[in-house]
Amino acid sequence: MRLRIVVLFLVGSFSGLAQSQNWVETAPGIWKLSVGKPEAYNLLTAAESKPNTEALTKLGKTGFPIAKDDISVRVEGGKTYLRLPLDRGEQIFGFGLNFQTVHQRGKILQLHMDHYGNKDNGRTHAPVPFYVSSKGYGVFVNSARYINVYAGTAVRQDSKNPPKVQDRNTDKTWEARPYSDAVEMLVPAEGVDLYVFGGPTPMDAVRRFNLFNGGGCLPPRWGLGFTQRVNRLYSADDVQKEAQEFEDRKYPLDFIGLEPGWQSKSYPCTFEWDKGRFPQPGLFVKTMLDRGIRINLWTNPYVSPEASIYPKIAPYTGSHTVWVGAVPDLTMPQAREIFWGKFASDHIDIGVSGYKIDEIDGYDFYLWPDVATFPSGLSAEQMRQTYGLLVQKQSADLFHQRNQRTYGLVRASNAGGSSLPYVIYNDYYSHEDFITALINSGFAGVLWTPEVRASKTSEEWLRRFQTVCFSPMAMINAWASSTKPWSFPDVAEQIKEIAQLRMKMMPYWYTEFAKYHFEGTPPFRAMNLEDGFQTEAKKEVLTASLEENPYAEAVSKEIKDQYMAGEYLLVAPLFTGQTTRKVILPKGKWYDFYTGKFAGDGEVITVTPGLDKIPVYVKDGGIIPMMPPLLHAPKPDQKIDLEIRHYGEKPAQSRLYDDDGETFNYEKGQYVWRIITVERQKNGQWKGLVSNPEKGKPDTIGKVTWRFMTSP
Ligand code: GAL
Repeated sequence: MRLRIVVLFLVGSFSGLAQSQNWVETAPGIWKLSVGKPEAYNLLTAAESKPNTEALTKLGKTGFPIAKDDISVRVEGGKTYLRLPLDRGEQIFGFGLNFQTVHQRGKILQLHMDHYGNKDNGRTHAPVPFYVSSKGYGVFVNSARYINVYAGTAVRQDSKNPPKVQDRNTDKTWEARPYSDAVEMLVPAEGVDLYVFGGPTPMDAVRRFNLFNGGGCLPPRWGLGFTQRVNRLYSADDVQKEAQEFEDRKYPLDFIGLEPGWQSKSYPCTFEWDKGRFPQPGLFVKTMLDRGIRINLWTNPYVSPEASIYPKIAPYTGSHTVWVGAVPDLTMPQAREIFWGKFASDHIDIGVSGYKIDEIDGYDFYLWPDVATFPSGLSAEQMRQTYGLLVQKQSADLFHQRNQRTYGLVRASNAGGSSLPYVIYNDYYSHEDFITALINSGFAGVLWTPEVRASKTSEEWLRRFQTVCFSPMAMINAWASSTKPWSFPDVAEQIKEIAQLRMKMMPYWYTEFAKYHFEGTPPFRAMNLEDGFQTEAKKEVLTASLEENPYAEAVSKEIKDQYMAGEYLLVAPLFTGQTTRKVILPKGKWYDFYTGKFAGDGEVITVTPGLDKIPVYVKDGGIIPMMPPLLHAPKPDQKIDLEIRHYGEKPAQSRLYDDDGETFNYEKGQYVWRIITVERQKNGQWKGLVSNPEKGKPDTIGKVTWRFMTSP
């Protein structure tokens, strides 16, 4: 059902230049305003994303969340000017995958696809032009251009809420950055589609954004297991030996990533197997599959003049090269056919499970420059903002056509990409900032992995490993370091335990990803999206001390080091050198994940968990379905015994998602949400129940054991 409620509005603040506003409700709770002449090529067309209208309808109706006469838009001199209001006390989040900050109010950014360069200035792997307000709405600018953002920094003459003029000579409270009441954006194009997402909560706005992009991706079950990326020059024999070692030592392993050396030439690439290291690729991939391990291939898209596809694809490539390799214009059907045809025949058809698509984000000295031209006529800028979307969508389609799910890695994405089965990574390797990125990924409609590579100490190794196991992709990227999970013998057992915990939690992770897919709820996200955790930037409480008023911290301070993992879990990592930390527990009771003991309620606690544990807390009434620590994800028809854990004092109703875990049959209704109920009986004991399987629907649940973690 398409709702078309048209509201005509004329804004006076820009005198003659203002455009009348014709907001159209394109789906329940989502409004679009076409400003000027929007370009035909944009983020959503590159991603080919389609809204999940059914799920959006289920989310229900809500009112337009912003005062319309406080929004103004105009086109002048070939550029689009946008202004949206900001209240005092309103905080904003998002604007892409930031690494050092969660609060975006007060920022000046240029949203520009790039490798992250140690500054939250808009240049990042997912420069998503979407922001979420603590007041419970979202704003999205659908443009494949570099967008300048003034997020509550500039003061206009016609401001409705102007700051007071102060005299610096005499007034000690004079501010160098006076209060600003607007987010203003400049898009270098003659028009743009502007979208507003309704609430009422910030989480609702995020859900609407994700569902508008088609819903989050649903990885295959094996994607949520453990993955090891091996040394870049490993041969087929080396890889098999490594897999054997995982098995002998009983460390879980679902897929292995091959780094550049699987190709005969790389940087630029041939996309062909190296005959020396991999003499029989088909046999190699099959042997690995037979032992339950999938193969993921690294590549960048730059075509070596020595690649067999080079002569054919050359006419469909850009004017400039990357490492002297040609850049396919993947908006052209001819280029797509040649490029992906090679991937299909040489990799996917012999059983390769997915890709890591590297180097499409930037670093200006490597990437095509903005003066490059492409045969389709699209600009270098448009190509740069969307190349990550193009490769994700087009490679994902190859798997979709084979009714086979994939899950891989990519270094560039953008709005529209939520449903694409890829996780972003980079080379930056700051553990703290990797966690902040994980928090921000939930505002940007993307997934992020705080990958583990190498470490100076076993403490660092274990701390990093703990966090990657509570992220979208549990991975060691040993392309240069050749590290293995057991590389630090003094913590090898602890590493194994946490890798096994990752496997045990697969039913939980899988269900949380299903919620991402069907309901738009990001599986990893900021505390600011959690009920009981207020987000208003209340100035008056900024100075309150944690101990006097613990809740003050939660409403005012930027929280960059703890996050929500799925519906019930709060994760508070420790970093090298830390033995103790503060954890902010939102209102409501929280319980220790490992012991089930009460941990706190709307307060700041100080914890000293020891090196072995990453602090994790469970919401009252939380249900965590777990399975045995298998070495590989269950097969489609495999029955799996469950241990279902209940935490806290509240009775519970929860859902467990089930399907075959590998195909797209869920798109045809082949899935089921099993209902888990935990109630207290007359004798005071807890009793748990899982709803019956549905006829003709998948049922992978074997024997169920209950664990009531919090004793009555
Ligand atoms: C980098 C990438 C690394 C690794 C390496 C291989 O660009 O971020 O993860 O794949 O290339 O050369």
